Amino acid sequence: MLARDAVLRFAVRLFIVIVVSSRSSSADDGGGGGGIDFIYQGFQHAANLTMDGSAKVLHGGALQLTNDSNRLVGHAFHAAPVRFLDDGAGGGGGGVVSSFSTAFVLDIVTVGSGGGHGLAFVVAPSITLPGASPEIYLGILGPHTNGNASDHVFAVEFDTVMDLEMNDTNGNHVGVDVNSLVSVVSEPVAYYAGDGSTKVPVQLESAQQILAWIDYDGGSSILNVTVAPATVTERPRRPLISTKLDLLPIFKENMYVGFSSATGKLASSHYILAWSFRTNGVARSIDLRRLPKVPRQSSPPPRLLIIKFAAVACAGTLTLIAAAMVAVLWLRRRAALADTLEEWELEHPQRIPYKELYKATKGFKESELLGAGGFGQVYRGVLRRRSGEAVAIKRISNGTRQGMREFVAEVASLGRMRHRNLVELRGWCKHDQDLLLVYEFMPGGSLDARLFGTAAAAAAAKAPPPPLLTWAQRFAILKGVAHGLLYLHEEWEHVVVHRDVKANNVLLGAGDTGAARLGDFGLARLYEHGATPATTRVAGTLGYMAPELTFTSRATTATDVFSFGALLLEVACGRRPIEPAAGEADGDVLLVRWVRDRALDGDGGGDVLRAVDPRLEGCYDEEEARLVLWLGLMCSQARPEARPSMRQVCRYLDGEEMLQEDATPAAIFSGADSSDLFGGSFVVSMTSSSAGGTMSASSLQGGR
Ligand SMILES: *[C@@H]1O[C@H](CO)[C@@H](O)[C@H](O)[C@H]1NC(C)=O
Ligand SMILES: *[C@@H]1O[C@H](CO)[C@@H](O)[C@H](O)[C@H]1NC(C)=O
Ligand SMILES: *[C@@H]1O[C@H](CO)[C@@H](O)[C@H](O)[C@H]1NC(C)=O
Ligand SMILES: *[C@@H]1O[C@H](CO)[C@@H](O)[C@H](O)[C@H]1NC(C)=O
Ligand SMILES: *[C@@H]1O[C@H](CO)[C@@H](O)[C@H](O)[C@H]1NC(C)=O
Repeated sequence: MLARDAVLRFAVRLFIVIVVSSRSSSADDGGGGGGIDFIYQGFQHAANLTMDGSAKVLHGGALQLTNDSNRLVGHAFHAAPVRFLDDGAGGGGGGVVSSFSTAFVLDIVTVGSGGGHGLAFVVAPSITLPGASPEIYLGILGPHTNGNASDHVFAVEFDTVMDLEMNDTNGNHVGVDVNSLVSVVSEPVAYYAGDGSTKVPVQLESAQQILAWIDYDGGSSILNVTVAPATVTERPRRPLISTKLDLLPIFKENMYVGFSSATGKLASSHYILAWSFRTNGVARSIDLRRLPKVPRQSSPPPRLLIIKFAAVACAGTLTLIAAAMVAVLWLRRRAALADTLEEWELEHPQRIPYKELYKATKGFKESELLGAGGFGQVYRGVLRRRSGEAVAIKRISNGTRQGMREFVAEVASLGRMRHRNLVELRGWCKHDQDLLLVYEFMPGGSLDARLFGTAAAAAAAKAPPPPLLTWAQRFAILKGVAHGLLYLHEEWEHVVVHRDVKANNVLLGAGDTGAARLGDFGLARLYEHGATPATTRVAGTLGYMAPELTFTSRATTATDVFSFGALLLEVACGRRPIEPAAGEADGDVLLVRWVRDRALDGDGGGDVLRAVDPRLEGCYDEEEARLVLWLGLMCSQARPEARPSMRQVCRYLDGEEMLQEDATPAAIFSGADSSDLFGGSFVVSMTSSSAGGTMSASSLQGGR
């Protein structure tokens, strides 16, 4: 039954392809009327595609343009050229661009932190795109060809990364590109529901099937682009983009249509599942029930395919039995995949049942509350079922299911990290709209509390105030945090940017011997990809945020280094990165500037050691203190390139590299003007506009 169906479908498709190609070739010969019309309902049979780079058709029939390896480029074009210009039968000179219409289903699967860069529907004069580069160029153009009118390239990009170089406005947009990746029109991905008055955002990088329609009317030069998740049953009536665009100067007589995709340091698997295209008419609609599947976490076991093949091969009497077998296997597989979230159960860290966490925290009782931060509340708990270990349970209320799913994938990946200077993630649990993360319990509390803890706070906690941290303890803490960050940046499977390095996120072990551990890594992504996909938010904490974050809103290892610089100074000086000035009108005191003033005070007679925490009463290692302050200033430089890497920082802290004789703070300042050091007045104006906490990029820009 199955076999006959497949053969029949194949025959029908072959017939269509033959008819279509003969019709289009006769159109080419005749020079008028006719056109091209094809539909690929999956690409395994009779797909006449020319592919290069990482593009390939998978067994199931999905066209994979890239997998999630870095810096790939994949192209797939319909092998036959499409005639796009009609000469105008009257011979009145000039030409007319043929109307065309295309519909396709795309699916972008991202595993781990942050995917990219996107895919595009492309119309180009040849199937080789000369100079095509990955990353921000999406494999369509390159640094030498971008923006050149002789490219004759038209594309509609589905971009999942915000590239400032391409004037992108967010990390999830559709753009119309003409000879350049700087889009002429671009919109955050969304569709208009119902009568067209409500706009519903769509997340490209969400591993869901997304339909896209591109329609061009040659007569009126109107281009429409419409997008909708495959779960939306009707094609939205109002297009997302509707723009006047004269393609006559762009198109040559014969062009190739297809897809291009690229990855960069950020990578996703990009798939096209079905594609229909037609000139001078509306593209045939795609049967969504017959879409090929794309591999999710792991590729399907090959044995299953072999069984399927064998079953199909020995048709006849065996067909029924085989069909039953396949059905059983298929049902079992579907059952196994049905709860996609539970896939993580197989991985570390395990999912912990909500009930257990509820019990551990006595029903999330107020008395068990350890603290509340930007991301949610933290409770103390004891997992009785699991050896009675004490844990800290962070409860994050999110509200968006899509972001959550991605985020859980990321959390599961982070949970495999093991480093003595990173707080260990023991497990997680998703419950309704909440995500619960279970961390090891750090009895020493946060570094922030130890540095600045007041007697009042101690009294409230019914505990004696913690003793002052000695210099040796501080230096060991800084070293530990540096190594934790180095691990995130360079030693883990992929680069993880912490995004929120600060004293509050440094947790201490019990007694004087416990190593300091960095917590909350990766959580800031939840904020950035959170509730409203249309606005990219920058997570971070004032005083620790590198100045470039306000323009790029992209966290990098260098922005982490900046934050670490602030931490170095904070720990050495016992002052917060930003302190409100006592009674001064000109705003708050920036620690970097304060340290600099101590170092350069007087007629060159300043000594940077005057910045060291006075509470230490001179009990500190002068050489170490000098090093910490110097490194703090180095890391706080405004230009990201000027900051050292975490590896360099660790080498200095470990004593593997010595300070040069002339490596004084003065040398840093004389090398660059002072505004270079910490973003100058820019940072100051930022601080006066807000009390602290997490801000959105737009509010920061508004403050400039
Ligand atoms: C991804 O594709 C590239 C290029 O086709 C290939 O070299 C690489 O092995 C693939 N990686 C995985 C994980 O499949
Ligand atoms: C695919 O396209 C090429 C180029 O136009 C053509 O030569 C070939 O016959 C086509 N194959 C099929 C199966 O349509
Ligand atoms: C545009 O491309 C053409 C052909 O490749 C080349 O001759 C020309 O120099 C390019 N123009 C610019 C401004 O790069
Ligand atoms: C990006 O936009 C700015 C302001 O609109 C404009 O000045 C700049 O030329 C654009 N960049 C590119 C590469 O088009
Ligand atoms: C584009 O969209 C507009 C507005 O919905 C519609 O009037 C027009 O017919 C559409 N054109 C094409 C070519 O689909």
